[in-house]
Amino acid sequence: MIHQFDTVIVGSGGAGLYAALEASSRCRTAVLSKLYPIRSHTGAAQGGISAALGNVEEDKPEWHAFDTVKGGDYLVDQQAAKILAEEAVRAVYDLENRGLPFNRTPEGRIDQRRFGGHTRNFGEAPVRRACFAADRTGHMILQTLYQQCIKNKVAFFDEYQVVDLIMDGNTCKGVVAVQLSTGELRILAAKAVLFATGGFGRIYKITSNAFANTGDGPAVCARQGIPLQDMEFFQFHPTGIMGLGILISEAVRGEGGILRNRDGERFMERYTPTLLDLAPRDIVSRAIMTEVRAGKGIRGDRKIDDYVHLDATHLGKETLLTKLPDITSFCKTYLGIDPADAPIPVLPTAHYAMGGIPTDTHGRVVRDGNGTVVHGLYAAGECACVSVHGANRLGTNSLLDLVVFGRRAGQHIGEYVKQIDAPKVSEADGDFARQWIARLTDGKSGPHGGHIREEMQTVMMEKVGIYRNAGDMQAAVNAIQELRARYQSVRVQDTSKHFNTDLLEIIELGNLLDISLITAAAALNRQESRGAHSREDFPDRNDGQWLKHSLAALQDDHVTIGYKPVDVSIWKPKPRAY
Ligand code: FUM
Repeated sequence: MIHQFDTVIVGSGGAGLYAALEASSRCRTAVLSKLYPIRSHTGAAQGGISAALGNVEEDKPEWHAFDTVKGGDYLVDQQAAKILAEEAVRAVYDLENRGLPFNRTPEGRIDQRRFGGHTRNFGEAPVRRACFAADRTGHMILQTLYQQCIKNKVAFFDEYQVVDLIMDGNTCKGVVAVQLSTGELRILAAKAVLFATGGFGRIYKITSNAFANTGDGPAVCARQGIPLQDMEFFQFHPTGIMGLGILISEAVRGEGGILRNRDGERFMERYTPTLLDLAPRDIVSRAIMTEVRAGKGIRGDRKIDDYVHLDATHLGKETLLTKLPDITSFCKTYLGIDPADAPIPVLPTAHYAMGGIPTDTHGRVVRDGNGTVVHGLYAAGECACVSVHGANRLGTNSLLDLVVFGRRAGQHIGEYVKQIDAPKVSEADGDFARQWIARLTDGKSGPHGGHIREEMQTVMMEKVGIYRNAGDMQAAVNAIQELRARYQSVRVQDTSKHFNTDLLEIIELGNLLDISLITAAAALNRQESRGAHSREDFPDRNDGQWLKHSLAALQDDHVTIGYKPVDVSIWKPKPRAY
């Protein structure tokens, strides 16, 4: 069956819904999602959305843009960061006007809290910049935007898994998807397609990411020959629940929580004396692992994991219950502790992809270092790389990225589709997807996809994690290539049509394997340490050779790397010190 729209937005998190909201006031808009929209992973973003409102202390968008550039270890495109910080203020008030229930100051203004790497006056001291709705900020953004999209009569295709893009040369004409309730293939023709499919933390064993975060958009683009940008930069959030990876928001430290080692020492005093526990995430994650490696971690009950403590006991029950209620409840559910009474055992958890589908600041996908636009194809949110996060994202800039660049993409799409005719597509445009699914369901027996996924996640965690070196990363590339070869023989065991989660998981596994290979190969290629990419064999940042974005293209079983210049038009790169 073929559906026709002006634009189809794939993904219903914050970026997808904001783009849909803007596009739908200008053209016929559909949102296609593998989930029911308000289950999207944006809902797991806890601590806040940054904007220099200056509600509780002086703040300026210029300081915000600078922190973003410095936090990203100068791999950020600086004009994009300026747009992010300047449009943040309006974006937050816009969300407020649409009904988002932010926490308030006693005077009734939107309240703001501290978050890592956000400072006043170019690094002087932490500043209160994160606007928040308790520790459910992402969830509230989703609810607000979804209601507005329903009001705008956006057509929702819930529980459809995207499988392919329909391309005509350098122009996108639509997408091919599987309807999960029936197992049928659907073709959605559109003048413009936007990918807002979120992240791919599921390439790692320990992650804060939802099961659905399997890199579907980037993998589909990579298979269509579009290189992915800066894939070597993957953020580990310092505080996941030890052993599980479930996120314990940075807001705990923003409210005054302290990291301690086995001696009860506030070890961040030794690493970042100015920002302490609120340094950027790459630095805090490395500090935790350095403590653990030095034998200063706390021995876990199972005698296999050392960890550190996140101490929030001094914050008091009132603060925990009013400002961090979800965190309090996670600790009770998953650890059997009340954070008001006992410190939380934490370790870094794979959290956020800085890299992704390269775009310009209107969300248009670009395919090379010259900025050549792929007509009719857009991306926004975590699956995209615009690039405002560079080598390391600051906390709360992800929700901001979604709303600022989701909104800009939706507006651009609304104007773009007025200028072109409806594309011609046919059932034959679904052939690649049809053949792929036919192979997976042809009744033959093959290796179990679950085993391949487990091996992939273990290899990525152990060899392309926080600390990296050439030997480990080469071993990871080899292992993933071998797993991708084995994947060719994987077949579904459940051949039913309706809600076949076996088929869904195998499609997702194919995407994860492609993304793992690109990530490992891009990491092996970059011979320096910058932001979240920390190499034991190249410990220093090397601006002379490596102040450039990578563009990693998938070609059969290997990856070729090209480059793109970084926009450093505002601030000259300097060593980072906090
Ligand atoms: O720690 C957190 O609440 C996560 C926020 C983010 O990733 O921006």
